[in-house]
Amino acid sequence: MVKYELPPLPYDYAALEPHIDEQTMRLHHDKHHQAYVNGANAALEKLEKMRQSGDYAAIKAVLRDLAFNASGHLLHSIFWPNMSPQGGAEPQGSLAEKISHDFGSFADFKAQFSAAAGGVEGSGWGILAYEPNSDQLLTLQAEKHQNLTAQGARPLLVLDVWEHAYYLKYQNNRGAYIEAFWNVVNWPDVAARLEAARRAAGR
Ligand SMILES: [Fe+2]
Repeated sequence: MVKYELPPLPYDYAALEPHIDEQTMRLHHDKHHQAYVNGANAALEKLEKMRQSGDYAAIKAVLRDLAFNASGHLLHSIFWPNMSPQGGAEPQGSLAEKISHDFGSFADFKAQFSAAAGGVEGSGWGILAYEPNSDQLLTLQAEKHQNLTAQGARPLLVLDVWEHAYYLKYQNNRGAYIEAFWNVVNWPDVAARLEAARRAAGR
């Protein structure tokens, strides 16, 4: 059985200050993300036991756990490198061209993504994804981690809008947190993800 593992943060906990505070990063990475890794592995272990016993009576609940926790793990694994202390400004090169082509302009994309993240009902994510079938970028919301996706679309830039991501510093002001996020976006990382996704799609 392959086990999920918590990836290390690619920078110090305090590196994104003042936009994302150190205490939030410690709790978010070490506790919350770790819990999703543990939850996904626990679901995989239950599935292994089911295969051994042949008793699949609980499979619906276990797969629900797997979808929630594995999606939580995978989105957080994109979220950390999507940010950088050297981040911010605007994307360059082919990513900038693709954003302008698909959204009209960077400003239009930024407004749409911010609205998507701000409008998530309850806990979830704002997501910029590459949809290979139509070779286009989509903004999506995820409720919790796993609901509302477009199956097959590959997340490139994700913004965690669970309260655990911002409440210590921004309290109920999700909009201020979203505004701060733009100062730390690691555009070269997003560009590399788009390039890899398009290459994989044969585009
Ligand atoms: Fe989170």
